[in-house]
Amino acid sequence: MTMPRIKQIKTFDTFLKKSRARINAVYGGAGSGKSFSVAQHILSKFLLERNKRILITRKTLPSLRITAWYEVVRMLKEWGIPVEINKAEFTIKFGDNEILAKSLDDPEKIKSAEFNYIWIEEATELSKEDFIQLNLRLRRVTTPDTINQMFLTFNPIDQYHWCITNLVQGNNPDTAIHHSTYKDNPFLSTEYIRELENLINQDENYYRIYTLGEPGVLRNIIYTNYFVDREWRQGKDTFYGLDFGFNNPTALLQISLHDNEVYVKEVLYKSGLTNQQVIEKLPSFGIHNSDPIYYDASEPQRGEEIRKAGFRAIPAEKNVKDGIDFVKRHRLHIHPDSANLLGEIRGYKYKEDKNGRVYEDPVKFRDHLMDALRYGLYTHRRNMRNPANEPSAEEAIGGGMQADDFGFGSDDSFFGDDSSTEGFF
Ligand SMILES: Nc1ncnc2c1ncn2[C@@H]1O[C@H](COP(=O)(O)OP(=O)(O)OP(=O)(O)O)[C@@H](O)[C@H]1O
Ligand SMILES: [Mg+2]
Repeated sequence: MTMPRIKQIKTFDTFLKKSRARINAVYGGAGSGKSFSVAQHILSKFLLERNKRILITRKTLPSLRITAWYEVVRMLKEWGIPVEINKAEFTIKFGDNEILAKSLDDPEKIKSAEFNYIWIEEATELSKEDFIQLNLRLRRVTTPDTINQMFLTFNPIDQYHWCITNLVQGNNPDTAIHHSTYKDNPFLSTEYIRELENLINQDENYYRIYTLGEPGVLRNIIYTNYFVDREWRQGKDTFYGLDFGFNNPTALLQISLHDNEVYVKEVLYKSGLTNQQVIEKLPSFGIHNSDPIYYDASEPQRGEEIRKAGFRAIPAEKNVKDGIDFVKRHRLHIHPDSANLLGEIRGYKYKEDKNGRVYEDPVKFRDHLMDALRYGLYTHRRNMRNPANEPSAEEAIGGGMQADDFGFGSDDSFFGDDSSTEGFF
C-alpha cells in the first residue's frame, strides 16, 4: 500500500513525522489546520503500518461524529481506499489495523481496550482525569520500528486549563508541542482570514485565542441559562431560527416550548449551501409549511425565496441587546446532538477590549446558531400570550415585512415574571 498523493501543510507534516514523543500537543488558533493534519497523519499510520489499533476520541459522541469521525471517513472515501467502515459501531478496518471512534461520555468501551495511537480532538473538553485514563490505555504492544503516541488538538481557550499548564507549559520530556495559527494554513479562504484578523477590533481574548493561538480566558460569557438535556419535548408551539451563510455556515435550529420551558436543537450547520439548497433541505427536517421560520432580516431576498417555496419565513427582529436579554430569561434545554450549538453557546461572550472594558454587544465570531436562536425565540415571543398576534401564512407571504410590523414590544417574556431565570445555574 502506498499513500495517495495528498496535500499536506508543511509545518504539521514535518513535526508529526519527526516527533518521537509519547504525548503531542497540537494547539493554536482557529483554522490553522490542526484537525486536518492530525487526521491525515493518523490515517497514514492506519494505512501504512501493521497491526495497529487507533482510538479517535472527543468528549461527546455527537461532536465526535461530526468532526474527527466525519473527517477521517471523508478522507478515506476521497482517497478511494477500500476500507471496511462500520457506521453503527464507529469502527474502520484495513488489513489487521483498526480505528475505533469512541467518545469519553461512554468510557467503559475505552477502558476495556488498549491502543497504539490516540487522537483527542478538542482536548480542552476533557478533564485531566479523562486524559490520565486515556494515557493508561496507550499501551498496546507495538511493532519494533514504531512507538505508541497520543495527539491532542485544541484551541488554548483557557490559560489555566490543564492542557496549557500541564502540557504546553509543563516542560515534560515526554511531550512535544506544536503551535500554529491561520498563517500556517494556505487553504483558508480570504473571507475566513479577514474574519480572524478582524477579531482584533472585537475582543482581546478572542483575538488572542483564535487568531494568535495564544492562551486566553473566556470571561463575560453571555448565556449560562442552559443545560444539556437528552429528553426532547416537542410542545405544540414549535418554530425555527435561521441565520444565512455561504462561506460561513448556514445555521438553522428548532425551538419548541413545552410546560414553560424552551427546548432547542440544532437542525443544520453547513457552509457552502445556496439558498435553493437550503430550501430543498427544509422538508427533510420535518418543517411544515405552517411552522414559523424566523430568519436574518438583513437578507430579505433569501427570505422571499423561502416564502415563494411555500414556507412561512418571517423576518426576525434585529435588536441584539433586547434579544439576548430575552433569551437569557429562559431555561434552555439543549439536545446533546447539537454539538455546534453547544460549542457556540459555551464561548459566546460580550466584547471586551484590551483595557478590560466590556461592551454590551457580543463578539461576532462562531455565533451563527446564537443568532438563529435569538431570531427565533425573541421574534416569536408575543405568540405565546396571544396567538392572535401571530401573522397568518398569507400575511407572512406578503413580503417586504419587518418583524417590527407585527407590533412586537421589546422586553416581554413568554412566561411572565416567574420566568426570570437569569444566572440561576
Ligand atoms: N491539507 C489540507 N488540504 C486541504 N485543505 C486543508 C488542509 N488542511 C486544512 N485545510 C482546510 O483548512 C480548514 C481548517 O483546517 P482544520 O479544520 O484542520 O483547522 P483547525 O486548526 O482544526 O481549526 P479549529 O481550531 O477551528 O478546529 C479545513 O476545513 C480545510 O478546509
Ligand atoms: Mg479543529
